[in-house]
Amino acid sequence: MSEHESRLEILRFGKMLHERGLIAATDGNISVRLHEGALLITPTCISKGMMSTEDLVVVDMHGRRLSGFRDVSSEIGMHLTIYRMRPDVNAIVHAHPATATGFAACGLALDQALISEVLLSLGSVPLAHYATPGTSELSEALEPFIPDHDAVLMANHGVVTYGGDLMQAYLNMETVEHFAKIALVVRQLGCEHPLAAEQVSKLLEMRQRIQHYKSEQRTRSRA
Ligand code: 13P
Repeated sequence: MSEHESRLEILRFGKMLHERGLIAATDGNISVRLHEGALLITPTCISKGMMSTEDLVVVDMHGRRLSGFRDVSSEIGMHLTIYRMRPDVNAIVHAHPATATGFAACGLALDQALISEVLLSLGSVPLAHYATPGTSELSEALEPFIPDHDAVLMANHGVVTYGGDLMQAYLNMETVEHFAKIALVVRQLGCEHPLAAEQVSKLLEMRQRIQHYKSEQRTRSRA
């Protein structure tokens, strides 16, 4: 994908995050790895649903601005940490979806084996402890979860998701919020019935095969 196409993709998914209520006001940020040495990322303090291509900022892997006239997202450190720890990740979405963020504000991870499809797509969604937005402490709070999870709740803050491309990072965010809504209904009904350990391990085996298939598909579509 060219840099211009990546810019258009960030605008498209920013609009979707906004229109679907996964962010409000100037919440959230989105980035894409352009190549080994540079990222394209949203600027700070702008509605991510109403950006134009020139609003986006290109930075190097130390967060230094290479092009763009706006200031880079305040969460650049978190994005850089995820790219550094996960060479397979090419896109990151941070948002504040209401239900999942509600769980994060109650100190609750979304880690119960309630829904087979969620185990297949995400495994579980852990909760990182609270740290002030935009600080290195926030990156440190996320670090233990980054290697083995593609979505993490951030206590009293929001959610970060990532993937091999922006579509996957965005879809992971949709899945987290949808699962949070289901988990809330399960709590309201008060009769939860999680999957058994054996059922979970079968699903996690299937998940590994699906992940492998998706990464092969991405390699093929890039060739
Ligand atoms: P930025 O506008 O600086 O990216 O910050 C938005 C946000 O959600 C911080 O957590």
